[in-house]
Order: sequence, then structure tokens, then C-alpha cells
Amino acid sequence: MEKLSFTVSAEEKEKIETLIAKMTVDEKIGQLNQVGPSPVGGFEISLKEKKLMLHEGKITKEEFERDLQGVQWDTRESDVRDGKIGSFLGMRGVEKCNHMQRIAVEESRLGIPLFFGLDVVHGLRTIFPIPLAESCSFDENLFEQTASIAAKEAAATGIKLTFAPMIDVCRDARWGRIAEGAGEDTYLTSRFAAAKVRGFQGDDIAKDDKIAACAKHFVAYGAAIGGRDYNSADMSLQTLWETYLPPFKNAVDSGVASFMTSFNDLNGEPCTTSNYLLKDILRGKWAFGGAVISDSGAIGELIEHGTVSDRSEAANQALCAGIDIDMSSMCYTENLKNAVLKGDIPVEVLDDAVRRVLRLKFALGLFDHPYTDESAGESMYLCDEHIKLARDAGRRSIVLLKNDGILPLGSDKKIAVVGELAAIRKEMLGTWAAMGRGDEAVCLLDGLAERNLSVSYEECCKVDGTFDRAALEKAVKDADIVIAAVGEYADMSGEASSLCHIGLHGEQEKMLLALKELGKPFVTVLFNGRPLAVPKAVEISNALIEAWHLGSQAGNSICDVLFGDYNPSARLTATFPNHSGECPIYYNHVSTGRPTSEIRHSCKYMDAPLKPLFPFGYGLSYTDYQYSDLSLSQNNDRVDISVKVKNTGKLPGEETVQVYVRDITASKVRPVKELKAFGKVWLSAGEEKTVKLSVPKDSLKFYDMGMNCIFESGDFEFFAGHDSTASLSKVIYIEN
Ligand code: NOJ
Repeated sequence: MEKLSFTVSAEEKEKIETLIAKMTVDEKIGQLNQVGPSPVGGFEISLKEKKLMLHEGKITKEEFERDLQGVQWDTRESDVRDGKIGSFLGMRGVEKCNHMQRIAVEESRLGIPLFFGLDVVHGLRTIFPIPLAESCSFDENLFEQTASIAAKEAAATGIKLTFAPMIDVCRDARWGRIAEGAGEDTYLTSRFAAAKVRGFQGDDIAKDDKIAACAKHFVAYGAAIGGRDYNSADMSLQTLWETYLPPFKNAVDSGVASFMTSFNDLNGEPCTTSNYLLKDILRGKWAFGGAVISDSGAIGELIEHGTVSDRSEAANQALCAGIDIDMSSMCYTENLKNAVLKGDIPVEVLDDAVRRVLRLKFALGLFDHPYTDESAGESMYLCDEHIKLARDAGRRSIVLLKNDGILPLGSDKKIAVVGELAAIRKEMLGTWAAMGRGDEAVCLLDGLAERNLSVSYEECCKVDGTFDRAALEKAVKDADIVIAAVGEYADMSGEASSLCHIGLHGEQEKMLLALKELGKPFVTVLFNGRPLAVPKAVEISNALIEAWHLGSQAGNSICDVLFGDYNPSARLTATFPNHSGECPIYYNHVSTGRPTSEIRHSCKYMDAPLKPLFPFGYGLSYTDYQYSDLSLSQNNDRVDISVKVKNTGKLPGEETVQVYVRDITASKVRPVKELKAFGKVWLSAGEEKTVKLSVPKDSLKFYDMGMNCIFESGDFEFFAGHDSTASLSKVIYIEN
């Protein structure tokens, strides 16, 4: 039985078959062709070259953006009219989408509607925190709500498919795309995947405010060797099945409408043409019936991978492995016809792919409602409800990393703000900001201004530039407290933004050291899209706030935390190393024979601390929580955990309760511990509540050498607490 979020009625099935019977081979291939508008005229050189020049520093970001604005975009109207294009990516603007749709529906021979896809990763115009930040809320309702608003805004602009959620587990913060996912943990990422699919798709993707989701990137892209984007992934099948596949399985079980394959090769096989991944696992074992899309240009890149000799072979292999839609490479358009006519590819294989694309279009309701109401969007983008959610999502994503008692700040203090990132609105949006506009975002200075506080600002230091000590001394002279905004520009994380140094760039650390020297109490606010190795900043700051790239309302969310209107409750979903050289680093590594310790011959670096800078699950609050009375019980299929949590501080707060499990003895080496359950509990000052969570016994299974998923009876240690170092534990014997 195929797994799909939508059912196609008997009548629709008949219509699909009738259409397929009428289609020429060219029209069939057209349905599998996804393209983006391409630039014409405005550039004397190609967009690709211009991007390279930007990358190499030959032109500035401003020059690049200015050129881009002047450019004319070719939307290939005649190809749409001729039925040579089935869908678009990157088309922005409801009028443009409707215009193109009109050509497809009213002027092409068969009138098959297009669909429009876009990377709506964390919002469309109202931008929510980047996924890595949002994952720190450990809040599934939030994951779902922000996806739901993103879907609503996207659908209003004609977009009916988002290339999200990105559910690549990532254990190496050098990889820039860690920003786009839910961090290093498989269980959390799996729950994130399900919640995002629910949020984007709801119960019917045909509804006006819903869109199709796309689980990406299938698979192991987050394991790019050395954290270098587009690099190979090489791992045991056990790691693949236990760590990287489960979020994708959860997406299938949640009814995700489509999948995107990843750029990388896995164990020597490009994921774009992997029969093992696409046929045996995705279509076979998991019975996924939705559409599979290649990543952008990836079919053509098989030539660079060296597994095909030309674009025709690339097209044949990709289609036969199960890629229904060729994103941007044009290999299908240029080559499949010949292959089908020569009999190299059975027409049934082509028809199957076309069938899946048409099914998606029927499920999206495009045959009945191909056009989008052009008046719906403007009143909805950044409306009060969406802004309110963005602000709440922001503060729920902020992780308080250090506080010597300076926070929350009183509003009577004279505050000096320094650091470029406090003042640049567009840098708040983060990577993949869809149709978000920099000038619509609230930066830290805006947030402070809204509170009518006595605040002064001086840039003093750019992210990648030099630091002006004289300006700093002058700026902070009369201040009671300094807020230092440091970190990364938005484009230092995301695609093609891997770094081998993940500390503070330029002279930002110098600025913090100078503040320390001047003896001014200061709060460091970090803006970044990945874990940062910043031990010095931790040591010398009076308080440290991890503010990520929080989106449209960043400045207000940060002020809510700074001034105590919100008591921070978020926890890190990726380990922070002390040095870049510790990457990859993650809490749920398997047990070695020589566990990390002071002993020389133990698993560690000689020149790094034994512990990470901050462990997975870590985060402070303005109150304290105490755990006690952990008890475990079991029935046939699950273990129930009960633990008392008390707010021992003076402020109300929300605690993120985490349950980890260690399989004490097994026939294979198992992780030291793994997150298996979590929940949030609201506690007023002094209040104690019993929190109950459960862990399905199935989730304690693992893969043996023959890749059978097995359960082994034995002792399991359950930990409950505040983060992955929780020590309150109980052992329970669980029988198969
Ligand atoms: C390439 C990226 O890898 C993918 O995540 C994205 O969806 C496509 N480009 C389309 O923008």
C-alpha cells in the first residue's frame, strides 16, 4: 500500500490516465522538467560568473544585488505554451505565477497546470527563526505553527510546494547548512520533520492556505566529510539507518508529498541515481508514492561525479532510479526523448514519473483552481498575528548560555550598544529568507528603541573588519552596561557557506577583550547560523545570549529576553565545541574502549578541554529547576517515565524536560546515551509538578550486522534532566 498524504479519487485516476494517453513523449518529458526564471540582458556576463566574482571578493554584495535588480528575467513563456515545462522554482510574485499559469492552462495543448516551488524554509515574507534556532525551542506546536503560517503566506503568492523541511542530521558545525535543519539529534529531527509536514500540508494540500512539503536532502548530506558543502558522505549502513534515515522515514509516515535527493554521493553512489536509496528503501520498504525531485542541476552533475559519461546517460540513470522531476539541469528535456524512442527506457518508466507528477497536481487542486487570488497576500504578510508568532518564536529560540546575574537588565540603566550586527536589519533574516525583506525586519537597535530606553550606539567593529578601539572607548565611557552584538552575517551559513574556522571572525573578539579591559559589564549577543567555538567570549562576558538569526522580529524577541519579559527556555540542539578542530562533535557518540577522561591514553584531544563548550540540550533560565523521584514502569510496548520537577527560583518559567537512554550491554557498540523523549512544563516560582513521558520500546532497537532491526533484552539506563549531561538515572530490565 503506497504511503501518501493524499488520495486520488477513481475519477481523478481516470483523468490522469486519459491525459497520459493523449500526451506526446515531449509533453510527458515536459511534466518532468522544472526550471527557474533565468536572467537575460542585465548582465554582460552570466549569473554564475557574477556569483563567482562575489564569492572571490571581486565585487561587493551591494554591487551584486544592484546588478541583480536591473536584470530581466526570462520565464520561458513559449516553452510553457509548448508543454515543455511542468513546474517552476524560484518564481516570485503572485501576478507572475498567475500569468505563467494562464499560459499553461489556456494556451498549451492539454491545459495541464504548472506548480510553483520555492524554498520557504522558515517563512515567506514574515520570517521566523532559522530552523536550527527554532529547533532549540523543543516545541513541536511551534514547529507546526510557523510552518502553517509560512504555508499560508506562500500559497497566497502562488507557491504550492516548498522545498522544506530540511531534515539532514548534522554533527559538524563547519557545514553551513546546519542552519537549515534541527541540529545533531535524530530523534528531535524526526519529530521536527513530522511537525513541519503537518504545518505545511495540514490535512489537505488542496486547501487555499496549504502547500506540499518536500523532505530533503535524501540522504546523508549533513555528513559531508569535513563539513565541506557538496562533499561525499561515507558511513556504515548502521549509522545510515540509525542516524540519518529515521527523520526521512518519519516524513513519509507523516504523509509528506515529495522528496528531494541530495547532491552528495553516499558510500560511492550519487544519491541522485541510487537504486538502493530510491528503489529499495524509499519506494520499496517505505512504499513512498509521492514525487521525487532532484536537487538543482544534480542530474547534470553526475558527469562531475564520474558515474556517467554524458548528459544522456545521466538522464537515463536518474529516471530509472526514480527521479520524477529534473530540477534545473535540463538533462531530461535534452535527452529522454531519444532514449524512449530507441527503447533504452521503457515508456512505462516515463509514464510512472508523469503519473506521480500529475497526481501531485491533482492533489494540490490545481486542475480545479489553477489561479491564486491576487488580493489575498498583501493584507496577510506581516499581519499582527504573524508578527506576534514571529516574536514569540524568536524568544522561544534564544538560548541563554551564560549569566552571572547581570540579566535580566533593569530599564533604568544607561546602555551602550556596539557591534555591526546590532544595526543591520537584513542580517536578522538568516539564510533562505524566501521573500523576506531586510527593511521589514526588526534589529536589536529597533527593539531597544521601541522600549524608549536610554541607549547609545556605535559600530566599533564589523563582522569581518577591524576594530576601532578609540570609538569603543568613547562609546562606552558613560554607560552602565554594554551590549556587544557579534557573530556571523546571514550568508556565512546556509548553502555553500562551510567554514573551517567557526569562531568569531575579523576582530570581534578583540572588541570583547577591550570591553573586559575597560572593566565595563557587558552582555554578548551572538548572531549566527551554526554553533560557534567562542570559549574566550564565554569566559569574559558577564552574560551570553545565543540569538541566532531570528527573523522578522529578532530585535523584539531579544529585548524580551534581555529585559526579562520572557524567561529563556530554549536548549541547544547542536553541541558547541571549544575549537573548530573538535568538529565533528556530538553528544550521542558510541562508547569507546577508552572513554574520555584525564588519563592520557583516553579518547580526547591533548590540547582541548575534556568537555565541549556547551553540550547538547544545554541552556539556562532566569530560574532554577530541580529534578527528583525518577521512576520507571513498563508495559508491553513502552516504558513510562515519571519525574518530579521543581522550580526552585524566584521567577516563573518553562522547563524543557529531556529523557536520555543508554543501552548498557548489547551485542554491538551503542551510543553513550540518546535522546528518546522530551516535554515542556510550565512552573511558577516554587512550584513542583510530576512530568510523565514515555518511550516506545521499538525506539530502543538497533541494527545488527545484517541490517536487521533488532531488540535485545537487557538493562537500560534512563536519565531525566535539564540537558544531555543529566545524571539522575534509573536502570530497568526490559525483556524482548
Ligand atoms: C539547492 C539546494 O540544495 C536545495 O536545498 C534547494 O531547495 C534548491 N537549490 C532550490 O533552491
